[in-house]
Amino acid sequence: MPLTKSRGIVVFNPIRMAEKKLEFSYEEFTHSSQLNTTDAALLTQAREITAQAYAPYSNFHVGAVALLENGELVVGTNQENASYPVGICAERVLLGSAATIHPNVPIVAMAISYNSKEVKSDHPISPCGMCRQALLEYETRTEKPIKIILSGQKGKVFIINTAFNLLPFAFTKKELK
Ligand code: THU
Repeated sequence: MPLTKSRGIVVFNPIRMAEKKLEFSYEEFTHSSQLNTTDAALLTQAREITAQAYAPYSNFHVGAVALLENGELVVGTNQENASYPVGICAERVLLGSAATIHPNVPIVAMAISYNSKEVKSDHPISPCGMCRQALLEYETRTEKPIKIILSGQKGKVFIINTAFNLLPFAFTKKELK
């Protein structure tokens, strides 16, 4: 119960706060063989494309593959830099290419995988905050949710039906004039 202090006397604050809750559902598979054919193929390619990453500083090789609504595939890998902040994540490399090569074509699904030289690559990782913001912008501008498929080189797979779910309280263009 919220309290306020008035002339040294503690009184109950009549203005009550409302407790709100945000939640979302996602799918978890124990193995990629349980995915539908399209999702499984995207994930296989995301796992393979990690080989194209340039990640000599983190040794954390990320690969992303997207299926566009026009049937085309677009890929991305993380590209690091000796000046660390200059490096760019696989997801944003992909989004930039997709928007440039296939303007205004929605992305139906994106698989993201990784291969680390330092740690086991046996569980899903999820996009960083900056990539979540970029994914959400892409969804908004193409007015289509992106199905996100997450997995390491093996093991569990998570499927999240829209990037919107990854970024609660997102800052969006609605706030700008
Ligand atoms: N990275 C990605 O490319 N995508 C992610 O979802 C997580 C992190 C990259 C950035 C950096 O090159 C390396 O992984 C380690 O953070």
